[in-house]
Amino acid sequence: MKIYIEDNYEAVSKKAALIVASQIILKPKSVLGLATGSTPVGMYSELVRMFNRGELDFREVTTFNLDEYYGLPKQHSSSYYTYMMENFFRHINVPEDKIHIPNGMAENIVRECLEYEERIRIAGGIDLQVLGIGANGHIGFNEPGNKLNVTTHLVGLSAKTIADNSRFFDNPQEVPKEALSVGIATIMKAKKIVLLATGSNKAEAMREMTSGFVNTQVPASILQTHSDIILIADREAGALIEEIND
Ligand code: PGA
Repeated sequence: MKIYIEDNYEAVSKKAALIVASQIILKPKSVLGLATGSTPVGMYSELVRMFNRGELDFREVTTFNLDEYYGLPKQHSSSYYTYMMENFFRHINVPEDKIHIPNGMAENIVRECLEYEERIRIAGGIDLQVLGIGANGHIGFNEPGNKLNVTTHLVGLSAKTIADNSRFFDNPQEVPKEALSVGIATIMKAKKIVLLATGSNKAEAMREMTSGFVNTQVPASILQTHSDIILIADREAGALIEEIND
């Protein structure tokens, strides 16, 4: 595990964007696993800047998002589909048929979950997975609990996650209580993982996830067993951990 502690949000965003850019330059046909939330917004802006400067080409890239709210139409202003379009996809040249986001409106959710896994497998698996981390230690929407789902599944969101995400909705009552999320094994099978964390509300989760123990109450702690993972934190999120970058 490599851990970088950067001065601020901008530096975290730049470093993450450079890692994603290197991946695409080294392998233009990369399969990227992508995350939503406040944290990666700066990374996406930086990647768009690189694209506009002609430094990056997404033509052959394939993407798979981690999750989507259940029962929220994709056109809804708070869907992850809208987030990805607004923050990233509509500014770059990734072909629409290479973009994958779980369909939270699918009639048959079990089939949607199975097919999402199958699409990842057919694409050759995820080369680089970008992750955020919930203040409660979740990754994707794999919430703390006694058990963790292995593959893509429908999940009931924790009260903490619903409260944390209410800031993205005009009316907090509108936050869906369920979501589709890739599973822990879907994430762990990625060849490389980069996890970004900023802000003091992430410091405790970052400490727990680097503690040397795997604990299903902190789903991100399983990432310690991945052989190629990079954590990038700002000073606040990294306040309780040490840099490791040798
Ligand atoms: P955030 O969410 O970036 O909005 O803090 C991270 C997450 O829940 O994974």
